[in-house]
Amino acid sequence: MSKKVALITGVTGQDGAYLAEYLIKKGYIVHGLKRRSSLFNTDRIDHLYQDPHDENRNMILHYGDMTDSMNLTRIIGDVQPDEIYNLAAMSHVKVSFDTPEYTANADGIGTLRVLEAVRLLNLTQKTRIYQASTSELYGLVQEIPQKETTPFYPRSPYAVAKLYAYWITVNYREAYGMHASNGILFNHESPLRGETFVTRKVTRAVARIALNLQEKVYMGNLSSKRDWGHAKDYIKAMYLILQQDEPDDYVISTGVTTTIRDFIKMSFSEVGVEVEFRGSDEKEEGYIVSVNDEVFAKTVGEAHLPAFKKRIGNVVVGVDPAYFRPTEVDILIGDNTKARTKLGWEPTYDLKALCQDMVLHDIEVMKREEFLKNGGYRIMNYFE
Ligand code: NAP
Ligand code: GDD
Repeated sequence: MSKKVALITGVTGQDGAYLAEYLIKKGYIVHGLKRRSSLFNTDRIDHLYQDPHDENRNMILHYGDMTDSMNLTRIIGDVQPDEIYNLAAMSHVKVSFDTPEYTANADGIGTLRVLEAVRLLNLTQKTRIYQASTSELYGLVQEIPQKETTPFYPRSPYAVAKLYAYWITVNYREAYGMHASNGILFNHESPLRGETFVTRKVTRAVARIALNLQEKVYMGNLSSKRDWGHAKDYIKAMYLILQQDEPDDYVISTGVTTTIRDFIKMSFSEVGVEVEFRGSDEKEEGYIVSVNDEVFAKTVGEAHLPAFKKRIGNVVVGVDPAYFRPTEVDILIGDNTKARTKLGWEPTYDLKALCQDMVLHDIEVMKREEFLKNGGYRIMNYFE
């Protein structure tokens, strides 16, 4: 039997990297859309790279952009994919307030470009489409927990662009009988998460603070709540959605919600450090209460313990209103009953396991940074 062919837009991102690896292991030929950039932007997928001269390649990259219809149409025509995973997006909510028009173009109209290319190329019966929809659609939440039938109330240019993408996907499904589905994914994180999303910002800071490379980290709103899962689990849901006989829309979540403040405390406790918070709003701060010598030595290293113990009582977390959003999403918590019952999907990582995976990874990354500072040379591999 010939191999299935998948096209992943956003293959260089967190989800794209995990999904590409997962599909290749399943025997797919994976084509990926990558943007031209003045620096290499393929760190997350370099371990999957194959020389263009290799015969029988199962990973092929194409230059492209979600804002370029002709480019997308040509690539989809050349690749003739069985499945398209449309993951490319300007995915940072705060940045979308600074770049609203670009975000609408890439995230909203970009999705239309993919759907319309499939239609114009007469691939509607061959190509199945997964659209990376988001829990940000719920915004000012109308129901707790949120499920597939909960009304949307987007609260950022990003979410409004994704609202268009969600509905145009539904519309193409209904109008042209396409196998086009939305995964309404709640926040999912991993050691591959972009460094400016809150969990990765925290786990990197915890690693740097523990290694005495940084004094303190400045955060935004500590009280918002998110339903965080592991990206490795969530890309499996994307795959399952496209294997169903009928297209449909699914909430993918863990059903547990946690404040940013508690995620920070959990992350420090992974290295044996107890952090408490005092004060409120912009004056809130987190300080070191105690250190568990054994856990710290095991996770960070015995050599760093004496210096760290001198910092008990120090403030390690501050608040900078620059990170506040003009309109915030206060609470997200998803009801994943439909995904559990129809897809047979369930998360395998709880928040503690996710947090541990990220913190331990970032300690290794930061130890390399310390090593580089001392004249070492760079070896980067996100998948170590
Ligand atoms: P990510 O790490 O930010 O990756 C986004 C990807 O899109 C990157 O490969 C990026 O390329 C690419 N991209 C951005 N603008 C593009 C453009 N104009 N043309 C072509 N490619 C472009 O995001 P992620 O966390 O993997 O998320 C994947 C998708 O799921 C996104 O659509 C996101 O909005 C959505 N989503 C994410 C979550 C979550 O919690 N992670 C939850 C719900 C939905 P570069 O590498 O060159 O920047
Ligand atoms: N990024 C960031 N940086 N967020 C902070 C900070 C900070 O310093 N301090 C507090 N936060 C709060 C934000 O205000 C928000 O309430 C929460 O932490 C989560 O922020 P992000 O990690 O940036 O993620 P997001 O929830 O806005 O968006 C992510 O999840 C969506 C799914 O719900 C992105 O991955 C989106 O692409 C995705 O659709």
